[in-house]
Amino acid sequence: MYRIIERRMIVPNLHEFIVEAPAVAESVKPGNFVIVRPDDAGERIPLSVADWDASAGTVTSIFMQVGGSTAKLARLKPGAAVPTFAGPLGKETEIGAFGTVLCVGGCYGIGSIYPIARALKEAGNTVITLLEARSSYLLYWEDKLAAVSDKLIIVTRDGTKGAKGHIDRIPELLQRAGAVPDRVIVNGCTFQLMRTAEITKPLGWKTIVNMNPIMIDGTGMCGVCRLSVAGKMKFACVDGPDFDGHEIDWDEFLARRKTYNPEEVDPLRRSSCRSHF
Ligand code: FES
Repeated sequence: MYRIIERRMIVPNLHEFIVEAPAVAESVKPGNFVIVRPDDAGERIPLSVADWDASAGTVTSIFMQVGGSTAKLARLKPGAAVPTFAGPLGKETEIGAFGTVLCVGGCYGIGSIYPIARALKEAGNTVITLLEARSSYLLYWEDKLAAVSDKLIIVTRDGTKGAKGHIDRIPELLQRAGAVPDRVIVNGCTFQLMRTAEITKPLGWKTIVNMNPIMIDGTGMCGVCRLSVAGKMKFACVDGPDFDGHEIDWDEFLARRKTYNPEEVDPLRRSSCRSHF
């Protein structure tokens, strides 16, 4: 069993989840993920790692409550334990001396882009971090991200903080900052990943997206996480989760992503948690 150190809603519907898992904390790298089960009967939930403390033996994730399984996770209290906390899984995000890197984070990806931005900064890159949210009350970890970024850009759809608009403003905001990225790395919801890749493709900005398919085993055995990249079948859990966003078959990915909505989201709609929909 893995003890929960913290589980709290940091902004509506997003939870910070800190678990005691010394073996994971010792070997985890930016871009890795873990698989968690809330209880013995629970689904296996893949969570991107957002931070860790090797000396304390703890691992931090940010998760969004989207279905029945994450609703179970969201009900767990500090001091409780989860039966499964497997990881680190997946390939780590490539960290190199690229020059200028634009790190884009939205939703739970504001958390998971943090260790990536930190590692890129330590590797000597100029790091520009762009956070996108519907409104200012959905932003978090701004101070942490500012501390590892040369510039922090905020975009909110309602204009309550930073620039008003959405991810489509990236080229204009980068131009205003006088920067042309050598690489773009995106963590967040599928729409953010896809839209950023669409925007950067005509500009020729290499764009790495951290994919978030449904997963079961997380070790390349079940095939649930498969996607098409440059016309080839890949498994996000072992070949990714990072891929070149310009090579992904997004239509196929979106269709597969919805497969389990009847099992996951519909029961929640009928439950007491229906206020989230
Ligand atoms: Fe089963 Fe990737 S989660 S193959």
